[in-house]
Amino acid sequence: MSLSPQFLDELKHRFTLSDVIGRSVKLVRRGRESTGLCPFHSEKSPSFTVNDQKGFYHCFGCGAHGSVIDFVMNTQGMGFIETIEVLAGEVGMDVPKPSPEQMERAKERASLSEVMDAVSKWYQAQLLGQGGRSAHEYIKGRGLSAETIEKFGLGYAPSSRTALKDAMQARGILEDQLIETGMLIKPDGGADSYDRFRDRLMFPITDRQGRTIAFGGRALSPDVKAKYLNSPETTLFHKGATLYNWANARASSYDTGQVMVVEGYMDVIALAQYGIEYAVAPLGTALTEEQIGHLWQMADEPVLSFDGDKAGLRAAGRALERTLPMLRPGKSLRFIVMPEGDDPDTLVQREGRGAIEALIDSAEPLVSMLWQSLIGAGKHDTPERRAGLEKQIFGKLSEINDENVRKLYQQEFRDRLFRLFRGNRAGGTTRRGNYASQGGSGWGNRKRGPLPPTGLLSKTQLGRSQGIGPVTDKLQKLIIVTLFYHPEILVKHEETVAELIFTVPGLDDIRAALLGRASSGEPLEHEAVAAHLEAVGHMNIMQKLLDKKAIKDDWFAWPEAALSDALTGFEHLVMRFQHITAAKLAYQQAEQDYAADMTEENHARFVAALEAYRELDETEADKEGYRLESGRFSFS
Ligand code: UTP
Ligand code: MN
Repeated sequence: MSLSPQFLDELKHRFTLSDVIGRSVKLVRRGRESTGLCPFHSEKSPSFTVNDQKGFYHCFGCGAHGSVIDFVMNTQGMGFIETIEVLAGEVGMDVPKPSPEQMERAKERASLSEVMDAVSKWYQAQLLGQGGRSAHEYIKGRGLSAETIEKFGLGYAPSSRTALKDAMQARGILEDQLIETGMLIKPDGGADSYDRFRDRLMFPITDRQGRTIAFGGRALSPDVKAKYLNSPETTLFHKGATLYNWANARASSYDTGQVMVVEGYMDVIALAQYGIEYAVAPLGTALTEEQIGHLWQMADEPVLSFDGDKAGLRAAGRALERTLPMLRPGKSLRFIVMPEGDDPDTLVQREGRGAIEALIDSAEPLVSMLWQSLIGAGKHDTPERRAGLEKQIFGKLSEINDENVRKLYQQEFRDRLFRLFRGNRAGGTTRRGNYASQGGSGWGNRKRGPLPPTGLLSKTQLGRSQGIGPVTDKLQKLIIVTLFYHPEILVKHEETVAELIFTVPGLDDIRAALLGRASSGEPLEHEAVAAHLEAVGHMNIMQKLLDKKAIKDDWFAWPEAALSDALTGFEHLVMRFQHITAAKLAYQQAEQDYAADMTEENHARFVAALEAYRELDETEADKEGYRLESGRFSFS
């Protein structure tokens, strides 16, 4: 019996969770939550919390987690239905009984499922019999072993118009059932029904539990119009809601934490024969939201593989479009584009499992795919074109529904744009090429320190101590040095400078002196400002910052640089520093939020924020200052 989610919600809402739990556990109220000793494991200090508002309990010690229904089931040792009846009785709700129609449908589904099973067995027998000889030869010729053929239940539909119909009717299966499962086609005009699949190699399509619900049939002769023919939508089969090889892959994904999506049935089967059991395929349609949801239950980052031709790239683009609004903390996709002329089937048969695993390891994260698709081949060499690109990018990113993910994407893309545009200004297409490719495969694969394990806040403090120190230190110093040699910048940026959050000791003092000078109305020239610093006793700190080596690549900070160059260089420095400061604050805030309220969601946010911050930091570390290979800035 299946109860509607509405009924279950209603039932849960009738209870105040802490009242029910309070009957057997002593709870102490603490803000919005109550805490007590966990009834599911033995402990001396309370780590069991009950949140009435959300209607769930959670134990930080043993991980026990659930609603009022789970609590009663687990503490009273009752089954689900019994628990529902007891709880409903307590609040005077009636448990809905399945209607006669619902019972009828359940019986019908069961019997349709038996029909499909009988059909599948018969197709398999045909493949091994006389009539299936050439189909059998064909499939062996494509490298499949007898074991694989059996495991995937491959079969053969003979070329006769009614072979299946006759065989099934002889077993007492009704014509109507065969029509309802899509195995027979019933012409509208009232003519006799006939077999849908004729002279085809048959691939049974199973549901999540491995029961046959449909078939895909591959033509054996090259002059048939449709290479693959699939069952129509039926009571049992909803193309957009299932995945080929779902049942097997689910088990394997559980062990490996991986799931790979390929385009064809043959790809799935060949991969499995070579030991990659976690591959699935859509059923002849583009990936649906529902399928993406299923994939995310199997793995956090399903890997989508597409053929390296135009159709494959278009399909990849569609999958990306569809997923973008759905992204949420921890859940993404990665992409593989197959080498031209190969599909996973041909590649694994020629080069073995390792070749596929290598592709999976170097799969492109969604963020890079999106970046590449957006910057495309267009030119970004004028402010108008850059503004156009920015508009397009931020428009696209606004489709991301999850606020946190969206913000972090915006941050990431601002940073990438900054590097892209900087590359443009350095004047060379080679330079731009570099940045584009840095945005490509190298980006996601960068080695980085291990993330803290989930659920252990004390360990996550490590994340902080491994933090950025030297990188932002350098940015901060460079900002001050630039101001020292080019104090005229303060005319435009007095306020910006006042708002920067410095952490390097001594910089605040120098800033105060510089700002004091700027607001005094005295001339803002280097010589005069240096004299002022000397007079207020800060020249010794300044002197330490003026190590020639430290600014050797950052020529815009040099005393001899033109003011306009210094100004632009300064503005970029500040932007980078603000980005990284914002990311750091976001992550510290997320950490605090998580410490205050340890929900899954807050944890995911915290991990995402830390990750974003680390990535920015690594990007900074890679730059080692503001270096331009040409040694000359040319403003376009
Ligand atoms: P492919 O043609 O790439 O399939 O189509 P494949 O598995 O590599 O086929 P082989 O290797 O030639 O045997 C990919 C998928 O697209 C759907 C099927 O689901 C197929 O597995 N398709 C393809 C159709 O539904 N109809 C078609 O006519 C072709
Ligand atoms: Mn193929």
